[in-house]
Amino acid sequence: MAKIVVISGSPTPNSRLNGLLDVVRQHVENRKWEYNEIEVRSLPAEDLLHVKFDSPAIVEANRLIAEADGVVVATPIYKASYTGVLKAFLDLIPQKGLDNKTILPLAIGGTIAHLLAIDYALKPVLSVLGASNIVGGVYALDAQVTRLEEGGFDLVDELQDRLQNKINAWIQQVDSSTALS
Ligand SMILES: Cc1cc2nc3c(=O)[nH]c(=O)nc-3n(C[C@H](O)[C@H](O)[C@H](O)COP(=O)(O)O)c2cc1C
Repeated sequence: MAKIVVISGSPTPNSRLNGLLDVVRQHVENRKWEYNEIEVRSLPAEDLLHVKFDSPAIVEANRLIAEADGVVVATPIYKASYTGVLKAFLDLIPQKGLDNKTILPLAIGGTIAHLLAIDYALKPVLSVLGASNIVGGVYALDAQVTRLEEGGFDLVDELQDRLQNKINAWIQQVDSSTALS
């Protein structure tokens, strides 16, 4: 059974980013794989700001990452990049902490102008952390994700298709990496 960790870098509780993560969780649970989520905004702010490597919450988050086969790194786009909240946590991941993980980057922004933020901003940091197997990436627009009154989110078909394709490709790679180990 593969182990999956989602690192969610949204500072807001009901972020549209969660609409994308709901789809990821569904795919992982369908395969009966272990699913864990590190919601960075819920980690102790002082531990993040003071870069406390030995804080119990950070140690536990890093344990989940160390044990994971597949990691999703998800963020809203702020100021043409990933969020500061996410960076605060990425700084606390040990050197080469993403080595041997299959990574799926996800981002959501208000404008298509920052479509390449995954490539120019997020991927270099993931590479420094040892990630060599990064599966494409999905950039969504706010306008493609609607919050539903009854809870949950509705994704437009174009985004659903793109997301499902990338999740399937990532799942296949996680599968083959766990079969090899
Ligand atoms: C401080 C801040 C900065 C933002 N900067 C950008 C930006 O540079 N490019 C962009 O496409 N969207 C930007 N956005 C919009 C968010 O990426 C977008 O609304 C995202 O989906 C977050 O939505 P949420 O409120 O549902 O979490 C920004 C939003 C905030 C709050």
